[in-house]
Amino acid sequence: METKESTFDFFEKDKISSDEHKIILVTGGAGFIGSNFIRYLVQRYPNFKIINFDKLTYAGNLNNLTTIEENANYAFLKGDVADPKDVKTVFEQFSPDYVVHFAAESHVDKSIINPDIFLKTNIMGTQILLNYSREHKVQKFVQVSTDEVYGSIPGDGSVKEDAHIEPNNPYSASKASADLLLRVAYQTYGQRVNVIRACNNFGNYQFPEKLVPVVIHNALNNLEIPIYGDGKNIREWIHVEDHCRAIDVVMQTGKSGETYNVGTGNKWKNIDLVELILKKLDIKNDLISFVLDRKGHDKRYSVDSSKIRQELGWKPQIEFEEGLDQVITWYKNHMDWIEEIASGKYMTYYDDIYKPRMMETE
Ligand code: NAD
Ligand code: DAU
Repeated sequence: METKESTFDFFEKDKISSDEHKIILVTGGAGFIGSNFIRYLVQRYPNFKIINFDKLTYAGNLNNLTTIEENANYAFLKGDVADPKDVKTVFEQFSPDYVVHFAAESHVDKSIINPDIFLKTNIMGTQILLNYSREHKVQKFVQVSTDEVYGSIPGDGSVKEDAHIEPNNPYSASKASADLLLRVAYQTYGQRVNVIRACNNFGNYQFPEKLVPVVIHNALNNLEIPIYGDGKNIREWIHVEDHCRAIDVVMQTGKSGETYNVGTGNKWKNIDLVELILKKLDIKNDLISFVLDRKGHDKRYSVDSSKIRQELGWKPQIEFEEGLDQVITWYKNHMDWIEEIASGKYMTYYDDIYKPRMMETE
């Protein structure tokens, strides 16, 4: 495993942590939400020690963390959550107080093409982390799950945490399975755990395979904007920084064994959201191209997040359109970040996902 040597002394000296000196193991911290969460922790809690444990798959990018990589309380370790040897090493070296588990294969379209890696990383990876968390008496294991585990929500209703789990694609089935393993860890082994199920995130550093960055990137490069099916599928949107605040609140104050939905009530049909982004960019709608639908495409997501609001006092702070404006500006100012990704392996992925769709609709 690769480590950042300069930070080791600090961690070694201070094995026993106080409230102000918690040691947090963040898995998947080089991805979109994980890197936002690490930056949030570094700014908010200058005394926390943060270990970023990430395999650096196609979605992991250490460029997401250049603003904090020199911080003495931050260390990066390259490793695989699904490899017990790697996980053992990180636990023995750092003995974390908290584990916040983001690491996952996260893209639904990829999961439909190749489910196996989703099962390995998202299910086995979670169990291996739980095993070592138990052995090392971790104070709290926080599973960053998703509203997709509830499946498509009919009518205009919203689901609470006790709703049935009804995933409809390999990604969401793997996340639902991991949630059940958290339940087992709590019920059978008495581990302290929380599950967080958030709606669709948007924000800085989101990999350009997800809807919002695909639209911004393609629009700015005069490329077609693919809309799956009729574009009427509905998603609920949250700014990633509001999600990070929710994870922090749950990590520190959530009642062990509980699941918390994280939502905003801010729901958009895909086509309406795409048209809004194009309007903000002052780009015409004629780049929009309706393409073959995603298999098993969930029609609508909608969570009831009254539990985290009432019990833990969290609520979203970022007004949706203000957040969207900020994110659009960020992407415009970070074209180099996205171009570096777009010029590499990502484009092969892009062709794999979109070419078959285009051909069948031509
Ligand atoms: P992402 O794909 O941007 O990042 C995933 C990260 O995990 C990457 O850095 C990758 O390198 C790492 N990773 C993948 N496999 C690994 C392995 N075997 N070992 C170690 N690291 C590995 O994902 P994201 O959008 O930031 O999502 C993070 C988490 O949040 C996921 O668990 C996802 O299910 C959940 N989530 C995402 C959203 C969303 O809208 N993006 C919403 C709710 C929940
Ligand atoms: O709901 C939370 C989930 O949100 C997370 O758990 C997942 O990790 C995350 O990827 C996201 O899943 P979605 O499938 O909802 O996100 P995605 O950005 O892939 O798609 C959003 C909607 O837009 C969905 O209805 C499919 C559609 N879409 C997506 C892409 C990439 C398009 O119409 N065209 C596209 O090019």
